[in-house]
Amino acid sequence: MYLGVDYYPEHWDIDLMDSDLTRMVEMGVNTIRIGEFAWHMMESTEGKYNFTFFDNVIKKAKEYGLKVIFGTPTATFPAWLSKAHPSILSEDIDGRKRVFGGRRQYCFNSNIYRQYTRKIVEQLISHYRDEQAIIAWQIDNELGHEGSDLCYCDQCRGAFQKFLQDKYKTIENLNDTYGTIFWGQTYNSFDEIPIPKKTITSHNPSLQLDYARFRDYSINSYAKMQIDIVRKLKGEQQEVTHNFYGGFFDKCFNQKTMAQGLDFVSYDNYPVWGGLKEPLSPASIAMTHDYARGLKNKNYWIVEQLMGAQGHTVIGYLPRPNQAKMWSYQAMAHGCSNILFFRWRGMNKGAEQYCLGIIDQNNRTSRKYYEAEEFFKDISQYEELVNSEIKSEVAVLYCFDNIWSWKAQPQSSEFDFTNELVRLYTPFHNLNVNMDVQSVDCDFSKYKVLILPVMNIIEKSLAERLEKFTENGGIVIFSFRTGIKDENNNLYLGSVFPGYVQKLCGIEIEESESLQASQEIEILGQGTFENTIGTGKVWRDMISTTTAKVLFKYTDKFYSEKAAITCNNYGAGKVYYVGSGVDEDTLNIIAESIIKQADMQFEKTQSGVEVVFRKVHDIQHKFVINHNEYEVIYEGSTLKAYEVKII
Ligand code: GAL
Repeated sequence: MYLGVDYYPEHWDIDLMDSDLTRMVEMGVNTIRIGEFAWHMMESTEGKYNFTFFDNVIKKAKEYGLKVIFGTPTATFPAWLSKAHPSILSEDIDGRKRVFGGRRQYCFNSNIYRQYTRKIVEQLISHYRDEQAIIAWQIDNELGHEGSDLCYCDQCRGAFQKFLQDKYKTIENLNDTYGTIFWGQTYNSFDEIPIPKKTITSHNPSLQLDYARFRDYSINSYAKMQIDIVRKLKGEQQEVTHNFYGGFFDKCFNQKTMAQGLDFVSYDNYPVWGGLKEPLSPASIAMTHDYARGLKNKNYWIVEQLMGAQGHTVIGYLPRPNQAKMWSYQAMAHGCSNILFFRWRGMNKGAEQYCLGIIDQNNRTSRKYYEAEEFFKDISQYEELVNSEIKSEVAVLYCFDNIWSWKAQPQSSEFDFTNELVRLYTPFHNLNVNMDVQSVDCDFSKYKVLILPVMNIIEKSLAERLEKFTENGGIVIFSFRTGIKDENNNLYLGSVFPGYVQKLCGIEIEESESLQASQEIEILGQGTFENTIGTGKVWRDMISTTTAKVLFKYTDKFYSEKAAITCNNYGAGKVYYVGSGVDEDTLNIIAESIIKQADMQFEKTQSGVEVVFRKVHDIQHKFVINHNEYEVIYEGSTLKAYEVKII
């Protein structure tokens, strides 16, 4: 098992290295990640490559028996490069060029940036291809994060027009698909098409969806270029990875595409960050791990695990004693098999003075160091367990086209895609059911239950796959606004919502309402849920049933005849439709009835106690994780605040 820290020896006097490495080894570290922001150290002036500093770092690391992950340094280019070639700098939505300073401010479509990337990466990899201590190359750093997924410069505009021409072939085809007749936006040629910078009101929704796809294509083609170079030049013993950030659904970057070219996925786990007064919910954090595991359908690494409070200018919640350690166990429970803490020591200069590490600027070994040490010592006994495969019978399905469609038109000021996904993930997580988070194009026939949150784009082919799944006994759960749009981000003309899955759901929706901040509507249980009162937020579909049964209905004057949640028998399976942003308690009881019908493994635990089931050679293991700030009793034994037990 690789256990380690992110280490930046270039940040301090090199004399500190011996004491750093000694303490790391005492802590249980066997791996360091280095180099990902050090382009200037490797090429301080154009074409003068020098790797002496890192030669010495690696030499020292080897003296201490450490392995190394080396990052290609392209997330932070040197100042001389942007001075010589200002065109490499990206532009924001207002058309303002980003300036040197900060990071990741390059344009993915700059040919000049690609050339310089190629050169530094070739030099770096060739220099270290025979280095046995380097076990993996990390490509760049968190591609697309911090808004760097978007650029509106002229190079991007030209590339976007070409992207559209390749896709639509003729301008008439594009005009027709987009409906540019509306507001007289008809184009005579591809070079008239704008990149969607800020304008008055909003851009055409089909254009916006294509722009998001174009951004995804831009990042993925840049990433592929780097991966290809590394693959061509690296040593046999070295693998290729990339560290993906949380908040993936907010970006125009389908990480799954990139993951296919990697040997393993790495994920950066920050359950809390600058400005947040409390961490993400246990379910939200768990979902990000299930997503990371789903990118390659195999266990993954964490190369940045938070230990201290974080923030660039504004700092977030301080993880309580043992809480960051608990999040590390939670990661291992969900499929992380090797883990590195961010970072060894906080930096006393520069933009990340408040991104704290294992050690702070006082350079003392204190609480965080001892927590990391305890965690490393303990988890290293469970190598087989953390490498075991995770089996899930429930999958939450996402589709980036759908997410980007929502991004262009959120429809309610309260809408947030990730919240809606987590809303349906949470009740199953509360009952400790193992779950996968998968792209909708995966082969989902092996699951018992599929959850498709707010899938507003549904094409006929997906509807047919879902019909087949349900006919064979599967259970499908949809939520509001399902199936209203086609792949071009246009509403279906002449079809009753929810479009192609209308028959599957056994319902019809003619009217819907967008709910705004603090608007909450009441829903009332029917049949087995009689007398249960719940609430809905964000949105509500006014559902009429054709063949479905009403589980909950609205209670307000004009819509008390309309259903809020329904269930339809279809083939040997069932289809649920949740027409509003329904509260957690109500979803909990629905999830429980689904889990029981599907005869799946689950466990009811006290709130905040998470159980993850893993099997090694048919022997069941459980990670029992107390997310609460207080002590709990689990199966007769006590778990202190934030304590984890592997049973
Ligand atoms: C990550 C990033 C690191 C560092 C860290 C601070 O997103 O990869 O380089 O900035 O955040 O919390």
